[in-house]
Amino acid sequence: MNDLGLGTQYPIIQAPMNWVTDAKLVAAVSNAGGLGVLGTNAGQREVTPNPKQVEARMTAEIQKTKALTSRPFGINILTPGDGRALATSPYTIAMLKAAFAEGLRHFVVVGQAHQETFDLIKQHHGMVIFRPLTPSVQEAQLAEQLGADIIVATGHDEGGVLPNREAGTFTVVPEFVDAVSVPVFAAGGINDHRAVKAVQALGAVGVYVGTRFLATEEAPVADNVKQLIVDTPSQATVMVSGNQRAIATPQAQVYAETYAETHDTSASNRQIGRDGGLRESMLLGHLDHGIITVNNGIGTIKQIQSVHEVIESFFE
Ligand SMILES: Cc1cc2nc3c(=O)[nH]c(=O)nc-3n(C[C@H](O)[C@H](O)[C@H](O)COP(=O)(O)O)c2cc1C
Repeated sequence: MNDLGLGTQYPIIQAPMNWVTDAKLVAAVSNAGGLGVLGTNAGQREVTPNPKQVEARMTAEIQKTKALTSRPFGINILTPGDGRALATSPYTIAMLKAAFAEGLRHFVVVGQAHQETFDLIKQHHGMVIFRPLTPSVQEAQLAEQLGADIIVATGHDEGGVLPNREAGTFTVVPEFVDAVSVPVFAAGGINDHRAVKAVQALGAVGVYVGTRFLATEEAPVADNVKQLIVDTPSQATVMVSGNQRAIATPQAQVYAETYAETHDTSASNRQIGRDGGLRESMLLGHLDHGIITVNNGIGTIKQIQSVHEVIESFFE
């Protein structure tokens, strides 16, 4: 066991990913010695219409995960932006309610450091694993003051919605390590054991990994998408908006061309969302809708493997 309070064998947290981190993947990660984390829309195929349904569906997914593992696992909590009160984010409240009622202890909180959210989690004896969406030293220090137990330093190398600061993992990790005294985990472009060793050399005590888990047997990602991740070289990605990178499918290239003309990130992201976003493309495998978002080093992902094989290979 590592001594970070995670209760895991290895210092690895599976990053929550909208639509594609369900009970099966999360339990596989926890059973293999990491911390699995349920993301938003975990286990769903259709959009959930309201917060009440989110609470009910998330409760069911937590129970399903518990049936598959006796090890700890966590849940993704997105904080309200711009210092708004928690009451303005009914979907976040629904996720918290489900997690508290089921006695979860590991909360992967993403966004801005948010006192009300941190306090509520602490009142429920939870651990705050905080990932600032935009990684700055000030935000990391504020999170530590507010009680974060672990802080994740994310480089622009990552998959998903990118930080608006274009600093790579090699820049952000040592900055955070110098700035805070709580353990720092590294995120962004960590696809194999060499990257694990590299971020450990920078002072990170653990890794926070998303993209690599997409190409695993247990991930609820469409088979054609898993294969595409394995077959695509790193340079065959495009920016489909100012903060989203995607594999350069013909559809992604259409988004990229529009974005290159307009430079309007919000409009591009809205269009991608209207077309089905990650659900249509990554979950259902409809490559002519939405995008496949990945990190900028997918060329090093060469095989679809089991979660157990991936985690063992990271710490070989
Ligand atoms: C397909 C995909 C979906 C993501 N969805 C979310 C999300 O819903 N919430 C979140 O906090 N981060 C999300 N992220 C970001 C990851 O949690 C994590 O920061 C990132 O994957 C780490 O970098 P890596 O992909 O290079 O391993 C997503 C990333 C990917 C690749």
